[in-house]
Amino acid sequence: MNTRAHALRLDAPHGAGIDMRAEVCAGLARRPKQLPSKYFYDAKGSALFEAICIQPEYYLTRAELALMRRHVAAIASALGPEVLLLEYGSGAGIKTQMLLAHLEHPVAYVPIEISSSALRQSVARLRDRLPAIEVLPVCADFTRPLILPTPQRRPDRRVIYFPGSTIGNFDSASAVGLLRRMRAEMGDDGAALVGADLIKDPAMIEAAYNDAAGVTARFTLNMLVRLNRELGADFDLSGFSARSRYNALASRIEAFIVSRRSQDVRVSGRAFHFDAAESMLVEISCKYSHASFAHLCARAGLRVAQVWEDPEHLFSLQLLVNDGSSPQ
Ligand code: AVI
Repeated sequence: MNTRAHALRLDAPHGAGIDMRAEVCAGLARRPKQLPSKYFYDAKGSALFEAICIQPEYYLTRAELALMRRHVAAIASALGPEVLLLEYGSGAGIKTQMLLAHLEHPVAYVPIEISSSALRQSVARLRDRLPAIEVLPVCADFTRPLILPTPQRRPDRRVIYFPGSTIGNFDSASAVGLLRRMRAEMGDDGAALVGADLIKDPAMIEAAYNDAAGVTARFTLNMLVRLNRELGADFDLSGFSARSRYNALASRIEAFIVSRRSQDVRVSGRAFHFDAAESMLVEISCKYSHASFAHLCARAGLRVAQVWEDPEHLFSLQLLVNDGSSPQ
């Protein structure tokens, strides 16, 4: 292993090239206003997201863990031996540890995460718990082209692990783009293991994104705190509220930041006006039926080979393989 190269990969996001200022100004100039949900995840936002995951209303994390406890052996056996496991994003890592611990002779684990602090923490935890597994961290935006490290051993199969229903935070065109990228990265015989939240009682979904303790609201409004700090914006936090509602027609949660009054905000020297009660879309979280998820995958040249669910059928993990069609 080339240690220096991997130290660089931990520290320096590559392939990002994101101009936050331009993206935020463009989003504020849109009608209706809209900002990308990726800007939730500074250090505070990531900590608040972890707090969301343990709220009683947020069923997703518990359901996915229950799914893993019940099916991890079957999942590992479906993936086969000598797997190179690439993870898009790296969260608390419990599910990943379970999966790696059940895989037969895994070749290496490659977590791809844009936050270097989150990456460092999860890599340290993993090296501590599973010291025999080669870990090759990559600090990068997984939605952009990646340069991946080469493991010491040659894998039989590349598997992309994308748990947690993050796919649901992409609109369908972006989700298809991301699935296409996965298809290219996993190769002809590879696979992807993707978490997808299932359509269910709208009241249950809405409660999950409007927790009584107000953690989701703090998470949502933290985006404005970040814009104030990183872009020198002057959002007055007392002038905004957060609200999420389930759009049943689109089968998705829509999270908004709502202006409590008519006001002007400056970002990087530019003024943006908010009307009283004007709402700005800051996140979508799509919920799927098996048919709608399979359809999304088919648009990316992927076939659903197998699906696992938690005992309450709230959440699914979908095993995707190349459908043999020519790539678009
Ligand atoms: C990261 N992602 C899967 C979460 C979700 O459920 O869509 C983000 C989140 N937003 C509010 N609560 C949780």
